[in-house]
Amino acid sequence: MPRDSLQYFERIDEATDYVGRHITSRPLVAIILGTGLGKLATRIKPEVTLPYREIPHFPQSTALSHQGQLVVGLLEGVPVIAMQGRFHLYEGYTLLDAVLPVYVMQKLGAEILVVSNASGGVNPRFTSGDVMVINSHINLMFQQHAKLRNPTHTAEMDQQPGTLFYDRAFIDLALETGRKQDFYIQEGCYVSLTGPNYETRSEYRMVREIGGDVVGMSTVPEVLTAHSLNMRVLALSAVTNVAKPDALSETSAEEVVDIARLAEPKLTAIVSDLLKTL
Ligand code: HPA
Repeated sequence: MPRDSLQYFERIDEATDYVGRHITSRPLVAIILGTGLGKLATRIKPEVTLPYREIPHFPQSTALSHQGQLVVGLLEGVPVIAMQGRFHLYEGYTLLDAVLPVYVMQKLGAEILVVSNASGGVNPRFTSGDVMVINSHINLMFQQHAKLRNPTHTAEMDQQPGTLFYDRAFIDLALETGRKQDFYIQEGCYVSLTGPNYETRSEYRMVREIGGDVVGMSTVPEVLTAHSLNMRVLALSAVTNVAKPDALSETSAEEVVDIARLAEPKLTAIVSDLLKTL
């Protein structure tokens, strides 16, 4: 077993115990709210809100518009646990730091992970403000999950079999919400890079050529972790800019946040509809 697995699981346990002491219900759904998408958490009837800095071993949010708190409560009558802000590799966190909250939320009871992000579109049919439901990914982060084996569990966590990381029934539900509410939801492939920069024109071209529809700097590590823990996953991407490699314009973090906010009501509608089916 790698040297630091034991320590890592102790950290998960301590963080889980801390959050567990502050809540009475068992959250069924974990929600990670990415750039510009934190507002959904304000719709939760909160039981408790815990700043990350108070939770043992939780990283701190440093990215723009990532509030850095955990909101636990009821959304559409369903017990949820939501992260207002996530952790990225470009903030200097390791892969294990970045996914620690996923382990914690699963240990607290979550069986479903809803994950959201802001992304750059490379599919020319996309426009900024679109929401894309992720049905596949290409992982270009080139970082391995350390082999983890929890000494207190019999389940081996060092294998991550599977290719269907994104729950088909959830994807169909999201598309159905779009049809009902009269907005078009895109479906496609998310390519993950570590950043910290938005892509060069050559990188945007590459992302398109290898089969990506959007590109971003998060989400895949969380999805892989959730899948390894047998959670069902719905992943939604707010397309904040569409790259035109031949006439590239500068993308700013502020613009990404502003456009993600515009896409937020669509995201809220999809998550609400999903929760109503549970
Ligand atoms: N690239 C990577 N991440 C992003 C982008 C982008 O163009 N837009 C929003 N997040």
